[in-house]
Amino acid sequence: MQQRKISKAVISRLPRYYRYLGELLEQGVERISSKELSVRMKVTASQIRQDLNNFGGFGQQGYGYNVKYLYSEIAKILGLDRQHSIIIIGAGNLGQAIANYANFERRGFIIKGMFDVNPRLVGLVVRGIEILSIDQMEDFIRENKIQIAALTIPKTKAPDVADCLVKAGIKAIWNFAHTDLVVPEDVVVENVHLSESLMRLSYRMCSKQEKEAVTVGKQQRK
Ligand code: NAI
Repeated sequence: MQQRKISKAVISRLPRYYRYLGELLEQGVERISSKELSVRMKVTASQIRQDLNNFGGFGQQGYGYNVKYLYSEIAKILGLDRQHSIIIIGAGNLGQAIANYANFERRGFIIKGMFDVNPRLVGLVVRGIEILSIDQMEDFIRENKIQIAALTIPKTKAPDVADCLVKAGIKAIWNFAHTDLVVPEDVVVENVHLSESLMRLSYRMCSKQEKEAVTVGKQQRK
């Protein structure tokens, strides 16, 4: 498959396509038109066509998209056609919650280890994964050729730990600490901020309520 340069906006929408296509496959749907997909996903059919045209050859006029093929091509683009080994740094509430979520494995993300500075946590086992001392982290990364690390530690500690991760060979940081990390060019960082998502939700709810209040006010003045 020929891959053109794909915009960040398109890439950010691919996981959603992947999820919907996975659901369609589970329902036994073999093909789907951009129009039907647009109704399910609540995006315009032309957006879907534009997005998927980036990868070429997925859809056919009058036939629609072959769901299985599209699903597996998007999986390849997202790197889900192979397994990735992950470690979690910070085995507190969030780190343990991530370790306890078994579904990442279904997507090929295998949690191989967890690390913490707290001696009271070291030695505990979360869903079969032993919490190791942070002192063992760098050797573990090298020996197990780990490429992805989830960072679930306080933000003040995150920059130093990120430096150690990079030094040991980590290529991708799934950063939950509320700080922007500075990393070399060959390392990628994906920031996850649940509170930002909550703020967006709050904004949408409040602006809806304000709009409704204005409409009610207008009706009452009539
Ligand atoms: P927590 O206090 O339960 O866990 C943090 C763990 O990190 C502790 O076990 C602590 O011993 C360990 N730790 C501290 N320094 C360390 C180091 N240098 N190396 C290894 N481990 C170290 O906190 P919680 O609730 O799990 O949150 C963790 C982080 O994630 C915090 O920075 C919090 O602000 C952030 N967070 C981010 C969210 C997001 O959406 N981005 C959502 C929830 C929390």
